[in-house]
Amino acid sequence: MTSTLPVRPPRTPAEWAAYYALRYAVLRQPWQQPPGSERVPADDEPGTVHALLLADETAEPPVALAVGMLQPTGNGQGQIRFMAVAPEAAGQGLGREVVAYLEAQARAAGLAEVVLHSREAAVGFYEKLGYAVVEPSHLLFGVIPHFLMQKQL
Ligand SMILES: CC(C)(COP(=O)(O)OP(=O)(O)OC[C@H]1O[C@@H](n2cnc3c(N)ncnc32)[C@H](O)[C@@H]1OP(=O)(O)O)[C@@H](O)C(=O)NCCC(=O)NCCS
Repeated sequence: MTSTLPVRPPRTPAEWAAYYALRYAVLRQPWQQPPGSERVPADDEPGTVHALLLADETAEPPVALAVGMLQPTGNGQGQIRFMAVAPEAAGQGLGREVVAYLEAQARAAGLAEVVLHSREAAVGFYEKLGYAVVEPSHLLFGVIPHFLMQKQL
């Protein structure tokens, strides 16, 4: 599955549903987390940027191939969270496109630095995009080591 569509925020209730469904499928369901665990209060805060890459503009219901979120965290810094690419669409540059969109939005908002907590398996992905490991961070669900990573814009 590929997409040549632009990355943009979800617009309709059905697109929001597709957005959160991909988050849940990739980042929560495999660890038996309950529905709803894919959402956080920051999702609805002003300044938060949501990025969605659809498979097709006309599909009903919409199908999300890649998603990500940028949360301003103060002092000129933003945090990328909830990056997820559908397994069947991985390795095709979609994750890179979502990060590039979020970084462009961060620059437009005047942010100077982006940080994120990467799963151990995704550290190489973020390194390819110019992020550097700062230090080990938390253990998610008791089993997934994370690393704090950072990039100056
Ligand atoms: C990690 C993830 C976001 C990467 O997205 P993707 O669309 O598959 O990645 P891209 O195709 O844009 O890859 C960009 C570059 O990173 C590399 N890359 C991708 N995933 C990688 C990984 N896990 N480790 C090392 N390098 C990786 C690609 O080879 C590519 O390099 P290239 O430009 O030299 O060809 C995606 O695979 C995913 O959602 N994984 C499961 C959930 C997850 O771990 N999310 C991150 C939570 S912190």
